[in-house]
Amino acid sequence: MPEPDLHPLRERLAEMALSGRGALLPALHAAHELYGYLSEPAAREISRTLSVPLAEIHGVVEFYSMFYNHPVGKRIVRICGDPACALAGGEQVLQAVCHHLGVKEGESTLDGAYTVERAPCLGLCEHAPAALVDTIALGKLAPDQAQKVCQAQAYRPVGVVAGDIRLLTANCGKGRPTTIKEYHSGGGYQGLRRALSMPPDAVIAEVKAAGLVGRGGAAFPTGLKWEGAARANGEPRYVVCNADESEPGTFKDRVLMEEDPHRILEGLIIAGYAIGAHKGFIYVRGEYPYAYQTMQAAVEEARQAGYLNSNILNSGFGFEIELFLGAGAYICGEETALFESIEGKRGFPRLKPPFPTTYGLFGQPTAINNVETLCNVPYIVEHGAAEYRRMGTEKSPGTKLFCLSGDVEKPGLYEAPFGVSLRHVLYDLAGGVRQGRGLQAVLLGGAAGAFATTQQLDVRLSFEDLRASGLPLGSGVVMALDESRDLRQFLLGLGHFFAHESCGKCYPCQLGTQRQYEILRRVAAGKPLEGDLERLADVGWTMSDASICGLGQTAASAVLSALKLWPELFKN
Ligand SMILES: Cc1cc2nc3c(=O)[nH]c(=O)nc-3n(C[C@H](O)[C@H](O)[C@H](O)COP(=O)(O)O)c2cc1C
Ligand code: SF4
Ligand code: FES
Repeated sequence: MPEPDLHPLRERLAEMALSGRGALLPALHAAHELYGYLSEPAAREISRTLSVPLAEIHGVVEFYSMFYNHPVGKRIVRICGDPACALAGGEQVLQAVCHHLGVKEGESTLDGAYTVERAPCLGLCEHAPAALVDTIALGKLAPDQAQKVCQAQAYRPVGVVAGDIRLLTANCGKGRPTTIKEYHSGGGYQGLRRALSMPPDAVIAEVKAAGLVGRGGAAFPTGLKWEGAARANGEPRYVVCNADESEPGTFKDRVLMEEDPHRILEGLIIAGYAIGAHKGFIYVRGEYPYAYQTMQAAVEEARQAGYLNSNILNSGFGFEIELFLGAGAYICGEETALFESIEGKRGFPRLKPPFPTTYGLFGQPTAINNVETLCNVPYIVEHGAAEYRRMGTEKSPGTKLFCLSGDVEKPGLYEAPFGVSLRHVLYDLAGGVRQGRGLQAVLLGGAAGAFATTQQLDVRLSFEDLRASGLPLGSGVVMALDESRDLRQFLLGLGHFFAHESCGKCYPCQLGTQRQYEILRRVAAGKPLEGDLERLADVGWTMSDASICGLGQTAASAVLSALKLWPELFKN
């Protein structure tokens, strides 16, 4: 194979003024843009420029699914194989595209034009079955569209955004980003103005009084987190926006980024002011190239409007934002794995404690929040905690974004105050089960979630009500399964996801996710062994109890809930 011309890479690295380990992922992205993969000479060039050992570079490339150390097709066709797409016929689309190109999944065509991959959830679940062709998102695909998929030109499906209340999604649903002018005309950046007129402690106190809790899945009180980071010793401090959104079934953060980027920026700048950070990072997953571009353009707009500089609105407070693009790894949504990724390493979660508030990004005090969490902040600061608390319930104030997918008439993003019933969200907002079929079950909270039965439709969607019913809210996934669905196949899909995404750092999860998948394969094939039910339960509880991070701790959650509800599924 001819040696690649390294001049463009040298120029690009010089242009980007990259240095040090933290520049590794941007440098690898640059190499992939230029050559499609990382050749050995390119790896050596990056190693020299950034002073990162070559072996470490290979370790990082192998860790992330969107980086390659071998040549791949000029176009990479990624077809989602996860639950919402599987329900909508994603497997048939994948097979049709492979057949059309004469390859198997994971292979490249002989002319080097295409590589076809089965991808984990692409965050396009309301458009299922979905694909990402290079940077082009495609949805509602059918097997007879294989040629269209391969030849995809700029196209982006527009999804449904609706709900009972439009606080966080006020500017969403247009199918395009809200400009800063439009954001201003709806009162945008007034929260920031108000925050800058208050002492930072008072901003934290307002967020605490509002009772805002994190929307990334762990439901931690945001004000308390900010207080911890503000009080921790150590400069500089950082705020990080977690835009890695990879939980299967979740697409809310993508819609917020693509359609209302300034709300996120405003929330992040206020967070920075509150904790005394002058730098914020936004970590966008690699599978969201359009969201990344939109955020990039919005950061530029915000800078020009005077919201990102060393003396914002003459307040004396300075703040800058750096965008960071992931490269395909579900685990990088876990906060400490995300820090490792920004630091240019493989995304292995750290042991906690210490927690990010004291020892976070680059070992400094850090407040990390989910995109949706940050979107609540401008409203809270502008209108005050009391006004915010008028929505939702006493213990779960505010609104929630629900990602409706699967067998519903109108998949989409729905905003509702906390406390509405599951029935309301499923039937009144999303139009009920498709084709008038009966409902079998609802997966709540994503792959790491649990099943609600038809007897639980009146459960109120609030943290306290769901907890009392033993159900997770997670990241707001509501995935409906109609009566015709084979739950064993569905569980097998979840099992595959975790076996694929476990980072392998700790044994309970590394081995447990593999064993769980093996047993689920037997179950789905209708050939469970004697004792497989007990084995699944045993593996599941071991992973839940002994894994070191949330991935392993929840990798059996849906399976354990199915074991309890439908034990007959796991027996011959
Ligand atoms: C395996 C795993 C994946 C996660 N993925 C995400 C994610 O994609 N987005 C997110 O905001 N939080 C994710 N989290 C939760 C984060 O670790 C963290 O709790 C969150 O970013 C904090 O923000 P919040 O308090 O605003 O929710 C994940 C956690 C685990 C264990
Ligand atoms: S629980 Fe799983 S994902 Fe988390 S550190 Fe252990 S092996 Fe990695
Ligand atoms: S895009 Fe396919 S399951 Fe989310």
